[in-house]
Amino acid sequence: MDALEALRTRRSIKQFTGRPVSREEIERLLDVAVHAPNHRMTQPWHFRVLGPDARRAYGEVLGARKAKKVEDPEAARAVAEKVADGEAALPAMIAVSMTLDENPEIREEDYAATMMVVQNLCLAAHATGLGTHIKTGAIMDDPRARAAVGVPEGERIVATIQMGEAAEVPAAKPRRQAAEVTTWVP
Ligand SMILES: Cc1cc2nc3c(=O)[nH]c(=O)nc-3n(C[C@H](O)[C@H](O)[C@H](O)COP(=O)(O)O)c2cc1C
Repeated sequence: MDALEALRTRRSIKQFTGRPVSREEIERLLDVAVHAPNHRMTQPWHFRVLGPDARRAYGEVLGARKAKKVEDPEAARAVAEKVADGEAALPAMIAVSMTLDENPEIREEDYAATMMVVQNLCLAAHATGLGTHIKTGAIMDDPRARAAVGVPEGERIVATIQMGEAAEVPAAKPRRQAAEVTTWVP
């Protein structure tokens, strides 16, 4: 698959098969992902490849957060359990964090660079036949989630990436044509 096809056909995958993803597969993807551009060569990213215990711990935090929105205690417990089980059962999950520079300009650039590494990882996975789903949200700043993943002070989680063989590939979501959002400035 060439780069253009990978860009065109990548999708966020919601369901994965039970095929495990090996350490070698993940290492290969991370090795290419780190070629992402980054200003001043700060290379601000850090990857934490979560094993089943860490995925469950993260899932328990996520589940507890989702359960808080459910009024009925029984239903809330079921939600918490389902979410934790779902995260633990993922074939692979990678928490991507960035170093927080004191300089806001560098911090912003580093965030952009870290998201480029995230996209590289997703595209590289896709090119090797693996699906991914980027997840973000307020959970990333939750101290319980940070502890579950092992992120130290001075780093921020910017995304978690779920990864595995796609059980189903969703249809492409409609996009605005590039021409609609492009201005050729003379
Ligand atoms: C920065 C970023 C954060 C995202 N966070 C979430 C998320 O928290 N939950 C989710 O279901 N999808 C998340 N997504 C996936 C988007 O919903 C998805 O990319 C979008 O619906 C387009 O679908 P596609 O990736 O299949 O083209 C995120 C994507 C990006 C780029």
